Amino acid sequence: MNLKEELEQKKQYFENELDKYMPGESSYPEILFKSMRYSLFAGGKRLRPIMLIEACEAFGGDAQKAMPFACAMEMIHTYSLIHDDLPALDNDNFRRGRLTNHKAFGENIAILAGDGLLSYAFEIMSNAVVENLDINSAKAMQAVAFAAGVNGMVSGQTVDVICEGKKIDKQTLDFIHLNKTAAMIVGAVKAGAYLGGADEKTIEKLEKAAIKLGIAFQIQDDVLDVIGTFDELGKTTNSDEKNDKVTYVSLFGVEESKNFTEKLSNEAIEIFKSCGDNMDFFVELTKYLIDRRS
Ligand code: IPE
Ligand code: IPE
Ligand code: MG
Ligand code: MG
Ligand code: MG
Repeated sequence: MNLKEELEQKKQYFENELDKYMPGESSYPEILFKSMRYSLFAGGKRLRPIMLIEACEAFGGDAQKAMPFACAMEMIHTYSLIHDDLPALDNDNFRRGRLTNHKAFGENIAILAGDGLLSYAFEIMSNAVVENLDINSAKAMQAVAFAAGVNGMVSGQTVDVICEGKKIDKQTLDFIHLNKTAAMIVGAVKAGAYLGGADEKTIEKLEKAAIKLGIAFQIQDDVLDVIGTFDELGKTTNSDEKNDKVTYVSLFGVEESKNFTEKLSNEAIEIFKSCGDNMDFFVELTKYLIDRRS
């Protein structure tokens, strides 16, 4: 099986589990659950939950133990996309191949669906922590919380929006990428590694690798915004230019951006390799993501 097929299989397994964790569309108030499910089950690569589960398994943990945290991760990621697309942020009309949440349900429900996904994620994780009563589950939840909030994604998104239309330097752009995107990837890998029982030293190395992978992932996202098509991406292209955002592409051009991605990915691969014998998935995934078209 090649990695693409493997990812598809893991994605299907995860989505089946995710469905069990989410209340159905007939739950009251129906519009809220319909809207949450609309974005959550619109496809998406499911990279963060897959990484979380893989990290857990790589250190000898069980996929079922990782599942509530993996679901929470994808709920938080999906909420971040719903809010990212809002008129007040990137003002985009398509996501995951369908109308953005606010286009389908209105801004009020889209904001609340995001709020719902974020808080439900913490409900699911805290239930798991109470049930497992072990320090590694608590640390996994801590890693996700750290990644999602003011030490990560929310701060990255804040600097991203306040810098629209401004000239910013590479250092500021790196802050944005590190926080808005790499943080959640770090959170996924660390949470999974804690659940699997990895030691702190290994987790520190994994964090370094995941930062590089995460920044490379966002540079490629910026590249695809320029060279990708709607059919490939399922989201509006040229969004960054429309919003006057500084990206790697606007600063350095497509070719140089690809070189950055390759360099960061190769560095990430070397670190992953030093984290143990079961790192093949992460090595292959990193290689795969450099050239991804969606
Ligand atoms: C999109 O993330 C937002 C970024 C952080 C670049 P993904 O590219 O993982 O989006 P989905 O989950 O596959 O839709
Ligand atoms: C958003 O980055 C990252 C998030 C935290 C949601 P982008 O704004 O570039 O993501 P896309 O291109 O809309 O998916
Ligand atoms: Mg954005
Ligand atoms: Mg956006
Ligand atoms: Mg983008």
